[in-house]
Amino acid sequence: MSALKNKVVWITGASSGIGESLVHECAKQGAKIILSARREAELLRVANEAKLQENNFLIVPFDLADTSRAGELVLQVINKFSSIDILINNGGQSQRSTVMETSTDTERRLFEINYFSGVNLSKAVLPFMLEKGKGKIVVVSSIAGKFGFYLRSSYSAAKHALHGYFESLRLEVEKQGVSVLMVCPGKIKTNVSINAILASGMSHNQMDESHETAMGPEACAQQILKGILSDKEEIFIGGKELLIVKIKRFLPSLFSKIIRKQSPY
Ligand SMILES: NC(=O)c1ccc[n+]([C@@H]2O[C@H](COP(=O)([O-])OP(=O)(O)OC[C@H]3O[C@@H](n4cnc5c(N)ncnc54)[C@H](OP(=O)(O)O)[C@@H]3O)[C@@H](O)[C@H]2O)c1
Repeated sequence: MSALKNKVVWITGASSGIGESLVHECAKQGAKIILSARREAELLRVANEAKLQENNFLIVPFDLADTSRAGELVLQVINKFSSIDILINNGGQSQRSTVMETSTDTERRLFEINYFSGVNLSKAVLPFMLEKGKGKIVVVSSIAGKFGFYLRSSYSAAKHALHGYFESLRLEVEKQGVSVLMVCPGKIKTNVSINAILASGMSHNQMDESHETAMGPEACAQQILKGILSDKEEIFIGGKELLIVKIKRFLPSLFSKIIRKQSPY
């Protein structure tokens, strides 16, 4: 029997890309799934396509830019399923704008969506996990959470911040049965570049070439599940682009040369 059978798994960013594929993979394993994102109709489509039965899923739409109601959202979930076993903080938005053209409002928005949403939702879910003495918080960061990159200043900063916060949280709660998995995808073929925010506040609206030819979200979701089930602390998912993380760590001068030559797209 699958280790995820009847486990309650909450996935943010479930309407598209990696989150959508996570819904499919978790559904195949018999999990009960909470699907969150802004677009309710898309969440319903994903739940239907994953063939989830009425009593096995819940749609909880909300905007990651405002998680002030996180406590109420968690109660909705607890009312239906009584517990939350795994929270996957996956929803996010990338960026394609230089520091000088990006307004403070946009910088704050990128932090709300990519950092504070995960912090607030996790803090609202944690009391229920700690009460049960078990649970897992998964955080979808990025390789951009390991080094800065062109046109990604606030996105990269928010992803870096996730590591500091959730690595600290891990130390504080692991003895009480709650674990933390950090996921660092490289390039995955989703709408992430299309949906990236520009300086104007509009969407980039283009599939970057590096994403067009990248690993599919299905394979990415399978690796995330593997990481969850094998109790990993941090995993990297993608293709040859992952090598740059090792180069930065072990050959920092070479990293400095290589990173300057990369296309922002
Ligand atoms: N694809 C990659 O190459 C890659 C690489 C590294 C990290 N990541 C990370 O992977 C995660 C998933 O992204 P993806 O690649 O699957 O991209 P995606 O296809 O654009 O999906 C993003 C998801 O996040 C949700 N979302 C975005 N803004 C939101 C908001 N303000 N409120 C609520 N939900 C919001 C979207 O739903 P709605 O639009 O319906 O709200 C959608 O379900 C993100 O955290 C991203 O940073 C992706």
